[in-house]
Amino acid sequence: MSEKLWAGRFIEKTAPIVEKFTSSINVDRRLYAYDIQGSVAHCKTLAKASIISEDEAKHLIEGLEKIKTEIEKGIFEYRDDLEDIHTHIESRLTKIVGKAAHKLHTARSRNDQVALDLRLYLRDTVAFLIELLLELQNVLVGLARDHIKTVMPGYTHLQRAQPILLAHHLLAYYEMFSRDAERLQNGLVRINVMPLGSAALAGTPHPIDRNYTAGLLGFEMVSANSVDSVSDRDFIIEFVSSASICMMHLSRLSEELIIWSSAEFGFIELPDAFSTGSSIMPQKKNPDVAELVRGKTGRVFGNLLAMLTVMKSLPLSYNRDMQEDKTPLFDTADILAACLQIYIQLLPNIKFNATNMQKAASRGYLNATDLADYLVTKGMPFREAHYCVGQVVSYALKNKKEIQELSLKQLQQYAPRIEEDIFEHLAIQQMIDRRTSIGGTATRAVKAALRNAQKKLKKSADRKAK
Ligand code: ARG
Repeated sequence: MSEKLWAGRFIEKTAPIVEKFTSSINVDRRLYAYDIQGSVAHCKTLAKASIISEDEAKHLIEGLEKIKTEIEKGIFEYRDDLEDIHTHIESRLTKIVGKAAHKLHTARSRNDQVALDLRLYLRDTVAFLIELLLELQNVLVGLARDHIKTVMPGYTHLQRAQPILLAHHLLAYYEMFSRDAERLQNGLVRINVMPLGSAALAGTPHPIDRNYTAGLLGFEMVSANSVDSVSDRDFIIEFVSSASICMMHLSRLSEELIIWSSAEFGFIELPDAFSTGSSIMPQKKNPDVAELVRGKTGRVFGNLLAMLTVMKSLPLSYNRDMQEDKTPLFDTADILAACLQIYIQLLPNIKFNATNMQKAASRGYLNATDLADYLVTKGMPFREAHYCVGQVVSYALKNKKEIQELSLKQLQQYAPRIEEDIFEHLAIQQMIDRRTSIGGTATRAVKAALRNAQKKLKKSADRKAK
């Protein structure tokens, strides 16, 4: 009998160029452990239904474990003519245990098998990525704690807007990454569904207990429709989409690290160990790591589009096009893990230049809103105060001065209500600490946010420890 799983109806041999073209072994071989895990559960299910004997099941399972060892030792042989990882394992199993291996594919097809492998892989991978996200959040909270006193200019339109605490800015990323972790966690509900037993597309006449298989593999439930089970890749699209959003956040962080480390900003110095030089310009220290995270984000977005495009016109149920799901999936998971890992190590080693940040926060009229608010407290309607402060800024600009550098007399030309207390009112720390609204930048509010973040992270860590 041929080692091909479908040779029976063919007279001619497959052309070698076709074998090469259709083979996915170089990509899907990394699913080997999940394929074996699924096959072991399938053996037990077949034995429970008396489709194979307990003895046969035992031999098959031993054979599968042996193959796992061979693969892990690097002595397993891969061949293009054996298409994919499922065929490789079955073919080797036949050599090890003989005829009994031919029964393993009862009540199963590669269509539900590959869906199972992907779900098992993604379940583990998502759990791993969530752990990395938690670590990254811990790093951000630690940095925020260290910088509860560091002041920086907050921006809108990349123009200096209002002073904020660096801790507040860093905790903004903490929030993004906690939503990213939540999104991945939510997706797990849809990943954690057991497709085996759907067979090619229509289900199976063999009396297997699908819930038993699901229990063995730790799935919450079995898929409800066999056609859908072998056609569905939306759990992958959803994952790549969540990963894309997370990469978008990492990319924004990267962009800030890149501009902040430029001479123009001078807000941070990146660690030497995480920077690279130029082959021609000896003075250069480049933020290549951050640039690569930003660049890889493009690749992940591309993977999302690739997945959507592969799936968009496929009639139900399984089509071979779907084999193309693995490259974008693995690539996305690998990139996201690598980027998270690199920032977990890089961020704690950044040197923040608090003096430059403070300087930047005190030049560029970041106190204009506070002057307007001050006038409001002195009884002026806000719109009028806004106009009046606009004139003050225009005057200050003409005289190359900051608002706080004008004399009380000069200020009073525009608003006679201004009194001596204005200078204290416009002190940076005061401006910051007045913003006590929940989620605001006041030291008190940021300390509360830090406490909440720490509590949440501790809860997640405790949940994991259980
Ligand atoms: N290598 C295939 C894939 O990844 C496995 C399923 C093949 N099924 C088939 N009927 N050709 O999708």
